[in-house]
Amino acid sequence: MKGVLALLAFVAAVTSMENFSGQQVLRILPVNEEQVNLVQELENLENLQLDFWQGPSKPKRFIDIRVPFSSLQDVKAYLEYHNVQYSIMIQDLQTLLDEEKRDMKIGRAMENARSTNSFNYATYHTFDEINNFIDTLVAENPGFVSKIQIGSSYEGRPLNVLKFSTGANRPAFWIDTGIHSREWVTQASGLWFAKKIVTDYGRDASLTATLNQMDIFLEIVTNPDGFVYCHTTNRMWRKTRSRNTGSTCMGTDPNRNWDAGFGGGGSSSNPCSETYRGRAANSESEVKAVVDFVKSHGEIKGFVSIHSYSQMLLYPYGYTNTRTPDNGELDRLAKSAIDALASLYGTKYTYGSIITTIYQASGGTIDWTYNQGIKYSYTFELRDTGRYGFALPANQIIPTAEETWLALTKLIEHTRDNLY
Ligand SMILES: *[C@@H]1O[C@H](CO)[C@@H](O)[C@H](O)[C@H]1NC(C)=O
Ligand SMILES: [Zn+2]
Repeated sequence: MKGVLALLAFVAAVTSMENFSGQQVLRILPVNEEQVNLVQELENLENLQLDFWQGPSKPKRFIDIRVPFSSLQDVKAYLEYHNVQYSIMIQDLQTLLDEEKRDMKIGRAMENARSTNSFNYATYHTFDEINNFIDTLVAENPGFVSKIQIGSSYEGRPLNVLKFSTGANRPAFWIDTGIHSREWVTQASGLWFAKKIVTDYGRDASLTATLNQMDIFLEIVTNPDGFVYCHTTNRMWRKTRSRNTGSTCMGTDPNRNWDAGFGGGGSSSNPCSETYRGRAANSESEVKAVVDFVKSHGEIKGFVSIHSYSQMLLYPYGYTNTRTPDNGELDRLAKSAIDALASLYGTKYTYGSIITTIYQASGGTIDWTYNQGIKYSYTFELRDTGRYGFALPANQIIPTAEETWLALTKLIEHTRDNLY
């Protein structure tokens, strides 16, 4: 009976998985303000069911849109009618996702989950596998690595944070990955960072010096409900999975839900939007848990929230054009971080404040942390620049993590050497 139920659950899970067959990702290049607005208008046509992966922001900046098969003809005709340039970035999204699934199967067969040495960092993992990894890492490194549960997700999953510490109550550096659940290279990089920290401590002079002065916190699956939903139902899920009263659309954008310019431009009041801000600041338990943790800790000196994609390193603000008092220092540090990143594989990043580099976004994580007094607040957008977007092949996980670590190291060292 148990077996039959398990089989039924398995069949249900397989058959209810969203199929992206025939769906394309179009890359649009608007040449002027008018074309930006024309593309923007597509977003309001809810029956087209478009998913904006990038933008719209400003003229000459790419807009990437995932278009369901049933809307492709209409969207292409609209763009052609208005003479808006576009190309097909992803010919068939499901083909990429099928490859991803195949890679995961092969990748899992190759690993032994009982040791972080034989863990396969070059494949994508499920929520349960990541939690197993966390417990294994803690068990392997007693007195150095611990797990803190800072809260629970909307659906009741643990919000686990790894703490790397060689002493008590030190100033700290925070890193989170996966607050947008579909950005899978970020959680995968988080796993690699965790292993890197335990490997380098006592071997690498700089990291050892850091951990003799500071603690590092790492939240790998910052949006567990969304992440599980990506694995079971819809690979392209970005938001949380909380219910919205008066709407059948689920979820809030957890990067529009923070109490910094909450409700302003670049966030939506429509629960069906991918940038829905939620009914109130901190309405999402995944956000509130971090807010409470940061406040109660009181000594977090650097905060990095990691997203993908588009290869950018960004600092506050996103909700206002006002420059922060630390703009010059944050800008110089960002430059040195992306130079370090590029030194490994030549991967090119752009950098700057959120509002000047991408677009206005209100209620974002690092605007809140900066206003909270955490001077070194940054957001990464990891690989790539759109060829694969959120469906980045697993063979890019390790190179992405390695190069990002070089940039993170710059940010961490600067924070350590400029404690305030
Ligand atoms: C998705 O749909 C296509 C076309 O309808 C079908 O051929 C394919 O097997 C489906 N893929 C999955 C993973 O369900
Ligand atoms: Zn994101």
